[in-house]
Amino acid sequence: QTKRVYIDGVSPEPELISEGANWLRAGELVAFPTETVYGLGANALSASACAKIFAAKGRPQDNPLIVHVCNRAMADRYVDGWTAEAELCAHHFWPGPLTLVLKKRPLIPDNVTAGLPNIALRMPSHPVALRLIEETGLPIAAPSANQSGKPSPTNGSHVWRDMKGKIPLILDAGACPVGLESTVLDLSGNVPTILRPGGITKEKLEEVLGEVQVDVPQENQAPKAPGMKYRHYAPQGEMILLVGSSQRVVQRMGMEIQRGHARLKKVGILCTLESAPLLHHLLPDLLFVLGSQNRPEEIAASLFEGLRVCDERGMDLILAEGIEETGLGSAIMNRLQKAAGQRVEFI
Ligand code: TXA
Ligand code: MG
Repeated sequence: QTKRVYIDGVSPEPELISEGANWLRAGELVAFPTETVYGLGANALSASACAKIFAAKGRPQDNPLIVHVCNRAMADRYVDGWTAEAELCAHHFWPGPLTLVLKKRPLIPDNVTAGLPNIALRMPSHPVALRLIEETGLPIAAPSANQSGKPSPTNGSHVWRDMKGKIPLILDAGACPVGLESTVLDLSGNVPTILRPGGITKEKLEEVLGEVQVDVPQENQAPKAPGMKYRHYAPQGEMILLVGSSQRVVQRMGMEIQRGHARLKKVGILCTLESAPLLHHLLPDLLFVLGSQNRPEEIAASLFEGLRVCDERGMDLILAEGIEETGLGSAIMNRLQKAAGQRVEFI
């Protein structure tokens, strides 16, 4: 049986924080908000507690977990050789949506890192997450609190739908402000390398670190962030990502809507605010406005909700409008590409 409690996202009620901390100390799972997405937390020092995460999510065993800490000193305890680059990153971007991959110390159980020699660490900025980690006094392993394969949960209702009956407690503070998962930055090699684009952009990292590479997973090579190889965010319906001028995208969507309707398919659209007025009169079965092209942070915050709504309303075909791949746009396009199962068309 799962209890869902509503918690103040700015000044979390101490008694709710201790309820969460008690479950975590007892080796159980607690879902909690972070500024990116909701996490499914467990004591990162306990292999048996972390094993429950894999079971609850249906997560493949070879996909390692991010360990969440509430201060720099705590991070230091689990890393073998905190580097100058790590120090810079922590100084500039913690607390916040940046995960650092560094060599781990042996006290972190193997299932947390899926047998890898490195640990992924993050200090979240959400008051509920920070207070919960502080109160527990433990590092907290937490992947996104969704069923494996689904979009990450960006509000308490998403977590409830995916986790009810599987975990004892959900701390619900409403919507997550960033809405996309953290940037995963590998600092274990010679050049800092982005394994997953996210809330902290390449441009921002380069201001602090100098050259930063972006890992491009190769077909015939194990990806450095094992999670990146799985099909993610996949909606039930077929999805196509359309990239091009607003005019062409609208034209193409119009064609696809007609074609879909002729085959009695429900067609859903995920688009920008700017294209919405042109698409509206083409009568799609669902028109979900992600946000303005000029405010990618708005699109980031609503993207996963949009994907989930398409499923809930039974869309057979989902057409998504691409955006410019700079700054936060790279992370948004990365998630859209995954959701579309790489079905991207440049028109
Ligand atoms: O924003 C976030 O990062 C959220 C919140 C809850 O903090 N968490 C999250 O966790 O998105 P998850 O498990 O859904 O994604 C973790 C990603 C995966 O792609 C995984 O493969 C990678 O980080 N990762 C974890 N540990 C790693 C390691 N030791 N080396 C390389 N990649 C790692
Ligand atoms: Mg995830």
